[in-house]
Amino acid sequence: MRQQFVDKFQQVYGEGGRIDIYFAPGRVNLIGEHTDYNGGHVFPCAVTMGTYAAVRRRADRVFRLYSMNYPEKGVLEIPLDDLDWKREHGWGNYPKGVIRTLLGKGFQISHGLDLFYYGDIPKGLGLGSSASIEVVTGLILRDVMGLPDVNMVDVALFAQLAENEYIGMSCGIMDPFAIAMGRKNNAIFLDTSDLSYIYAPLRLPHEKMIIINSTKERLAVDERYQERRAQCEEALRDLQRVVAIHNLSELTAEVFEQVQEMIRRPVCLRRARHAVTENQRTIQAVKALEKGDIHEFGQLMNASHLSLKEDFEVSCPELDILVEEAWGVDGVLGSRMMGAGFGGCTISIVEDRAVNEFITQVGRNYKERTGRTAEFYVMETGDGASAL
Ligand code: GLA
Repeated sequence: MRQQFVDKFQQVYGEGGRIDIYFAPGRVNLIGEHTDYNGGHVFPCAVTMGTYAAVRRRADRVFRLYSMNYPEKGVLEIPLDDLDWKREHGWGNYPKGVIRTLLGKGFQISHGLDLFYYGDIPKGLGLGSSASIEVVTGLILRDVMGLPDVNMVDVALFAQLAENEYIGMSCGIMDPFAIAMGRKNNAIFLDTSDLSYIYAPLRLPHEKMIIINSTKERLAVDERYQERRAQCEEALRDLQRVVAIHNLSELTAEVFEQVQEMIRRPVCLRRARHAVTENQRTIQAVKALEKGDIHEFGQLMNASHLSLKEDFEVSCPELDILVEEAWGVDGVLGSRMMGAGFGGCTISIVEDRAVNEFITQVGRNYKERTGRTAEFYVMETGDGASAL
């Protein structure tokens, strides 16, 4: 694989020089959805799919970018003094955003690079493919430019900043954090209010983690995501009239019950109820996993789906059908929509013995009910971003 990748790099950029290869994974999130911008907990893990990037230094101040996934875009030539976002650069805006972010933070980038990318994360599912490109780029810049005192959490924060300020998607820290900090066989129990985290062994000895692509394209996801954020903020402001909190996740479900009437608009109350209960479910789910109680873990995933569907209203008929069908298969411990929502994918924990039936039955019934062909991926945990 390594030699093939180097050969491809050289076909595009020519021979010579030292070429280094890096990798950043994608991520799945077991539970803790739409909590990362409410100061709550998330529980994602890195997976084995991801983005490979090869790099070679240049003597001048030009960055060249090429992706095997977008050969039609050809080689993008980006002078260091013209890093503005450009529609026609498409995927190339992700690495550009990270370069711009580091410059904005005052780091010295003294010369250009030839960068060559290939990703095997299926697109449009919400498995963190853009964060994966950003994290691998940030890590390369750190190493190649010899940036002092930049650790992997910083790389994740720069990736998030690039996404928020340069790309214009106001996502939370979950994706880049899981991608930068992942560890094989573990999920990360991350408190997004202060970035404290622990690795929790993901003990699924007789189960598989299965992602199903609904093939429903995620329409207007950015605007709807932004709207949910704003509604959570409105609920928080209403609550702050009676409780001294900085974010919704500081409330337990019990305290929320007592103060919820302060939230003026019913829609904001529902959004806040999801943020609060989802955070509590995530804490409980990690405890269940530590006890080895996968059944309880699965039940909490199911409850997460209902809350995302009814209170947060980020599901869609296709995701609901996939989840309902999954719940109907004997040997499915838990299933829910995953990620931002409005299309994309679901995540299910399925006993080994039930995997074939799960794929056949859910696939068949989904086709019958929606006319769409679902795609199934058995996921494995992987390590976070690193040089290869
Ligand atoms: C997207 C965002 C994350 C997170 C999820 C929802 O994946 O990038 O930061 O908010 O949605 O949990």
